[in-house]
Amino acid sequence: MSTNLLVQFEELGREIDSEPLDSHDAVDQFRIRFLSRKQGQITQLLKQIPAVAQEQRKEFGKQVNRLKQRVEDRITIARSALQATTKTLDSGIDLSLPGRRPLQGSIHPLTQTLEDIKRVFASYGFSVAEGPEIEDDWHNFTALNFPPDHPARDMQDTFFLEPPESERGGILLRTHTSPVQIRTMESQQPPYRVIVPGRVYRNEAISYKSYCLFHQVEGLCVDEHITLGDLKQMLYVFSRAMFGQNVKMRFRPSFFPFTEPSAEVDIWWPDAKLPRGGRWLEILGCGMVDPNVFASVDVDPEKYTGYAFGMGIERIAMLRHDISDIRILYENDTRFLEQF
Ligand code: DAH
Repeated sequence: MSTNLLVQFEELGREIDSEPLDSHDAVDQFRIRFLSRKQGQITQLLKQIPAVAQEQRKEFGKQVNRLKQRVEDRITIARSALQATTKTLDSGIDLSLPGRRPLQGSIHPLTQTLEDIKRVFASYGFSVAEGPEIEDDWHNFTALNFPPDHPARDMQDTFFLEPPESERGGILLRTHTSPVQIRTMESQQPPYRVIVPGRVYRNEAISYKSYCLFHQVEGLCVDEHITLGDLKQMLYVFSRAMFGQNVKMRFRPSFFPFTEPSAEVDIWWPDAKLPRGGRWLEILGCGMVDPNVFASVDVDPEKYTGYAFGMGIERIAMLRHDISDIRILYENDTRFLEQF
C-alpha cells in the first residue's frame, strides 16, 4: 500500500482515539462523522474498496475495517461509561454537594476545668507540681498522719500493688494527691506555694457519682505567719473565679488526719425546684497543715505554718456544666464532647 495512504490511515486513527466522548451528544456526533451511511468517513472508505487496485485491495480493506472497529469500540465504551454516571446520579448521590466537614476536636471539660483552676492559683503565685501515681504507704498515708488503723488504709478503699504486710510496707495507686505535699516538702525548703493536679484511684463501686479513678487538685501554701484567714481568703477568691462573683460559700468544720483544724467548703447551688430554693454542695476539703505532718518531713512547726486544700476536678466540672453522671466524662462520646 502506498505510504500516502498509510499516513492517511494513521492520521484517521489518531483522530478516532483523541475525540473526547464526554456526552451523549458528542458520541452521536462522533458516530455520524465516521459511520453515517452517506457521509461517514469510514463509510466513504469502505465504498472505495472495489475501486482499489487488485493487489492493494486486501490490505486496504483490512485497514479500513480495523478503523471501523476502533470507532465502534470507542462508541460502546463511551456509552457504557456515560450510562454508569447517569445511574450514579439517579441513585440519589448528588455529586454537586459540598464535602462533609471532618470532626473537629475540642478541649475535654475536665481539662478546661483544670486549666481554669490553674489560672486562678497561678495569678496568686502558685506553681504546679506533680508526683507519681504509684505511691508507697509512707507518702500516701503515714507521713500524712493517718493512724495505722485508719479505714482509708483498708483494701476496700485502696488498690494495693504490694500488700501492706509486704516488705516495702505497701505499694499502692495513690488515693489522693496529698502525698505530693510530702514529696514537695521532702525535696525543697519552705516557703511552698504549689498546686498539684493529678489522677487518683479508689477501689469504689462504679456508679453515676463515683468512678475507680478521678482527678484532684491539691494545694499547699507554707511560710512564716500563714493563717487560717489566708486560707479562707484564697478559697473565697477561688470560688468566685470558678462559680461567679455572687457565689455564696461557707466553711464547715470537718476532719482530715493531715490538717488541724480542718474544714470543708460548700457553695450554695440555687435550684428553684427545691423547697429551700437551692442546697449546699461540698466542693473541697482544706485545713491548716498538722504539726505532725511538718515533723515527718523535718519542717520546723515552730517557725512555719501553712494551709492545704484538695478538690475533685470531676466534681467541679460536673457542677459547672450540670453533668449528672461522672462516667460520661470517660466515655469519649463525641456527642457529649462536642458540646464543650
Ligand atoms: N486528700 C483529701 C481527699 O482526698 C482532700 C483534702 C482534704 C486535701 C483536706 C487536703 C486537705 O490537702 O487539706 O479527700
